[in-house]
Amino acid sequence: MNGRTVLITGSTGGIGKATALGLAKLGARVLIAGRDPARTDDAAREIRAAGGQDVDMFVADLSSQREVRRLAAEVLQRHPRIDVLINNVGGYWNTRHLTADGLEHTFALNHLAPFLLTSLLLESLKRSTAGRVVTVSSNAQAMGRIDFDDLQGEQSYSGARAYNQSKLANVLFTYELARRLRHTAVTANAVHPGLVSTSFGASDPGRAQRLLVPVLRPFMKSPTRGAATSIHTASAPQIERTSGRYYANSKPTRSSRRSYDETVAARLWEVSADLVGLTARSGGTDPRS
Ligand SMILES: NC(=O)c1ccc[n+]([C@@H]2O[C@H](COP(=O)([O-])OP(=O)(O)OC[C@H]3O[C@@H](n4cnc5c(N)ncnc54)[C@H](OP(=O)(O)O)[C@@H]3O)[C@@H](O)[C@H]2O)c1
Repeated sequence: MNGRTVLITGSTGGIGKATALGLAKLGARVLIAGRDPARTDDAAREIRAAGGQDVDMFVADLSSQREVRRLAAEVLQRHPRIDVLINNVGGYWNTRHLTADGLEHTFALNHLAPFLLTSLLLESLKRSTAGRVVTVSSNAQAMGRIDFDDLQGEQSYSGARAYNQSKLANVLFTYELARRLRHTAVTANAVHPGLVSTSFGASDPGRAQRLLVPVLRPFMKSPTRGAATSIHTASAPQIERTSGRYYANSKPTRSSRRSYDETVAARLWEVSADLVGLTARSGGTDPRS
């Protein structure tokens, strides 16, 4: 990864920090992004102490579209060419929360933030000889459905339903992005990290999580092992041209039947572009151009 610049969101803890550490050890310049300045600084220091030669850090709350736009602008100003974007940020909330933009938090952070950040960084990824977009989904995608009539759980909210929907959205987005980028040197793939012992969902856990996680924790993967598939998909030379795939245990595998529905993917893209202000209708620039 020498000479390659990788941006990893949600890299102050869990799978994201382990991914940044692993890629730094492979020689990449790593750009870490967190929401808390002290934790982001600590993560940068830890990566440098582990041998990371080139670490830059950014602070932004990615649940806010203004912050996503500011992050993209700062990254582009300091690093005009991005070789790999790893959309790792994500979480689970048992109760319904709204973001600064008035959107449901799970949908905004897990799906709209990667959608907007990727769109804003696409030109810089195209400057790479082999750009890659890796989006961290989950096998929870298999239980997801995109409910266009109640995308943000206004009529009825369940943490599990919102999470599963957002992780299916990650895969639908990845496959649609891969189709739109097929004539470029940029690839798009999604990954499932496995069941990993992190702070996932800790701020607003559901009942099942409160009861099961302490029992399951000894059997969960460590963050280092959980980062392996993200690192493989971001760096393995043999998959430089592979796009539109879903990886688990560092191997391509099939995602749910629903994730291959191109009509749903195209509709989700349109709705998302509108919600982040990237369509002509919403006064922005269409990301398809
Ligand atoms: N853990 C699992 O078993 C598992 C399984 C399947 C998929 N995944 C996926 O893996 C990804 C990473 O999860 P994880 O388990 O590593 O979770 P985690 O330990 O909770 O880490 C989440 C990271 O995202 C950051 N973050 C959270 N909200 C943010 C916001 N609003 N703005 C910017 N950064 C924010 C956190 O920052 P702070 O340090 O400030 O909290 C942290 O760095 C997620 O997409 C998740 O859906 C996890």
